[in-house]
Amino acid sequence: MYQILDGKKVSQRVKDELKETVASLKMKGTDPGLAVIIVGNDSASRVYVNNKKKACEYIGIRSEEYALPEETTQEELLNLVYELNNRKDIHGILCQLPLPKHINEETILNSIDPAKDVDAFHPVNVGKIMIGDFDFLPCTPAGVMDLIAESGIDLTGKECVVVGRSNIVGKPQAMLLLHKNATVTICHSKTKDLKEVCKRADVLVVAVGRAKMINADYIKEGAVVIDVGMDRDENGKLCGDVDFDSACTKASYITPVPGGVGPMTIATLMRNAVTAAIKQSAQ
Ligand code: GUN
Repeated sequence: MYQILDGKKVSQRVKDELKETVASLKMKGTDPGLAVIIVGNDSASRVYVNNKKKACEYIGIRSEEYALPEETTQEELLNLVYELNNRKDIHGILCQLPLPKHINEETILNSIDPAKDVDAFHPVNVGKIMIGDFDFLPCTPAGVMDLIAESGIDLTGKECVVVGRSNIVGKPQAMLLLHKNATVTICHSKTKDLKEVCKRADVLVVAVGRAKMINADYIKEGAVVIDVGMDRDENGKLCGDVDFDSACTKASYITPVPGGVGPMTIATLMRNAVTAAIKQSAQ
């Protein structure tokens, strides 16, 4: 029998804590501000940005949206980032990805002041995560860690398998698990015997972007299964990288899609925005 790891519930708890923190920050004269940049008309990005803004509103973080047209030049975007870097009342800057093809994502992410980089995408923050001494949490991986903690599993010495090696999820996820003393394997499209490797996992984190790719055949009896995917099935219905109905026959704990990792990503982003405001107000 499996149990659901409820991201809506856990993220609500995080947001309620942050709401109290922000209220006390405001009493001491700090008013946390987050700039949210979105370029072009990607419909998924629009949904994510709206959800981020809603979370800001709930917690009491001032959010400023910069919705720029598709044809915005790289120089124009860089100028906006520089302006926001220099503003004392903006503590966090987030540039929603993907950016239009004519803009170099790396150039833009590297231009954000690391102290305001609430996504933790800047190489300085990525490096700090690698070392294990970091200010900003990688949003999705840290949200996954909160959900794993909810299962009550002690990660020390456990076999953890991460499927996917992206800079946003797979790689930082592996680092966070390693910091908790897990034995970590990262799998990717060239991995041989993926099924066999996954079956070793006490904790399986899947972030590949392929609808229902992982079923019960990949899962050890009693494993904790975390699905980072946000895909569409053959009927256009939202689903994850894990085939839930199959995987839940083996898992002890499993995340649903939607309502699993997604809300946790936003909760971590909010945590980072509050951290940024606290650190900058202390200077
Ligand atoms: N696009 C997909 N995921 C993310 C994320 O976590 N942050 C940003 N800024 N863009 C994204």
